[in-house]
Amino acid sequence: MLQIGSFGPEYKIVVLDKLHYCSNLKNLRPSQSSPNFKFVKGDIASADLVNYLLITESIDTIMHFAAQTHVDNSFGNSFEFTKNNIYGTHVLRQACKVTRQIRRFIHVSTDEVYGETDEDAVVGNHEASQLLPTNPYSATKAGAEMLVMAYGRSYGLPVITTRLRSMDTKHPCFSAACNGSWCNNKHQFDLGGW
Ligand SMILES: NC(=O)c1ccc[n+]([C@@H]2O[C@H](COP(=O)([O-])OP(=O)(O)OC[C@H]3O[C@@H](n4cnc5c(N)ncnc54)[C@H](O)[C@@H]3O)[C@@H](O)[C@H]2O)c1
Repeated sequence: MLQIGSFGPEYKIVVLDKLHYCSNLKNLRPSQSSPNFKFVKGDIASADLVNYLLITESIDTIMHFAAQTHVDNSFGNSFEFTKNNIYGTHVLRQACKVTRQIRRFIHVSTDEVYGETDEDAVVGNHEASQLLPTNPYSATKAGAEMLVMAYGRSYGLPVITTRLRSMDTKHPCFSAACNGSWCNNKHQFDLGGW
């Protein structure tokens, strides 16, 4: 649940989400009346929209959650996953490069990029373990990570990548941005810690 109040008045949050089948605007309700909150319905794969928002909203932090996430669906229509997860991420990184105003880019990936863990393993995958995705969803998340990292190295752009295991879906999510930062409409984060 996006609770703007807990961010403090110095933060302005812009949520960009295309409201795909799994999203629920109710999750933004606690923040909707806040003067420092804005919701924009749109696609991160639209370069014009993303560039426009970064500039007009003076975005300096991107928290990138937006993705197609349902593994089972990725076996059927994997091109959609490539478009949203890889191409969409590419557009966001290119926008960071062009606008040169992003100080933090928090890229939300998944532990699924590591593939399967041995059932008998005492310790799970180490952070530096090889990425061995086993389904189209996790492959697109791994591909997105590569682009994010390459843009960091090639153009000196900031990035923090998280490989979360499982998120608390009681609190539906934010695909987007604040002060603005992107956020999507589901999880609760303490921006101070990023
Ligand atoms: N839920 C988990 O347990 C979990 C675990 C690890 C990583 N993650 C990662 O966290 C992020 C959020 O996961 P979730 O479970 O909340 O996903 P979700 O599928 O519930 O929500 C994804 C949101 O992204 C939006 N979206 C998708 N494509 C978009 C696009 N092109 N432009 C704009 N908005 C778009 C959807 O409309 C939806 O609101 C994802 O990047 C996912 O890979 C989730």
